[in-house]
Amino acid sequence: MENVVVVNACLRGKNISRTYDLGNFFLKKYMREKKEAELKEYLLSDMNLKPFDKEMVEQRDKEVSEGNIGALTKLADEFSKADTVIILAPYWDMSFPAALKVFFEHISVCGITFKYEKDGTPKGLCKAKKAVYITTSGGYIGDYNYGYDYTKGLFNFFGINDVYFLSAEGLDIIGNNTDEILLNAKKEAEILSEKF
Ligand SMILES: Cc1cc2nc3c(=O)[nH]c(=O)nc-3n(C[C@H](O)[C@H](O)[C@H](O)COP(=O)(O)O)c2cc1C
Repeated sequence: MENVVVVNACLRGKNISRTYDLGNFFLKKYMREKKEAELKEYLLSDMNLKPFDKEMVEQRDKEVSEGNIGALTKLADEFSKADTVIILAPYWDMSFPAALKVFFEHISVCGITFKYEKDGTPKGLCKAKKAVYITTSGGYIGDYNYGYDYTKGLFNFFGINDVYFLSAEGLDIIGNNTDEILLNAKKEAEILSEKF
C-alpha cells in the first residue's frame, strides 16, 4: 500500500491559504485513483515542534545509539518509511516558514533518514523515490528559489531523487488576476499529478 505523507506548512490555515488550496487540488488529483493509499498529514501549525537544542541533540543521540525509536526519532522513522512526500509551504522571506525548517531538523537523523558509509560517503535511507514541493508567492520567485532548492538538496541527501516543483506566483501584486494565476497553476497541478 502506498504511504503518502503531506507536510503542511500553510500556517495561515486551510481556509485562506492559497498554497493549501493549490496543494489540496494536486493531492485530490493524485489520490483520485488510489483506493489503497494511506495518507498521513503533518499539520505543522498544530504540532508545536521545538527547534533542537543541546539537550534534545543529546537525547536523540541516546535514542539512536540505543536503537530505541522515541519522542525525538519517531518523526524521522515515520518519514523514512513514506513512499511519496508532498510539501505544502508558502514562500516566506525568500524560502519557507521556520516551522518547516524545524520539521526538517526532526527528520534529519543519521542512522534513520541517512547514514555515512565507512569511507564517509553519505547514503540516503528514505524509501520514497519522489516528492513534490508546492508553494505560492506574493511576488515572483525567479532565481531566489531557496526553499525549494534547499528541500531538494536535503531530500536528495535522504535518497529521494525526484523532487518536483509547483508554484503560483505574483499573487500579491496589485492588478494581477489571482484567480487566473491559481487556475493556471491548477492546470499544471493536474498534468504533474499524472506524471508524478
Ligand atoms: C511572513 C510572510 C513572509 C512573506 N515573504 C515573502 C517573500 O519573501 N517574497 C514574496 O514574494 N512573498 C512573500 N510573502 C507573500 C506570500 O508568499 C504570499 O502571500 C503567499 O501566497 C502566501 O501563501 P498562503 O496563502 O498559502 O499563506 C510573505 C508572506 C508572509 C505572511
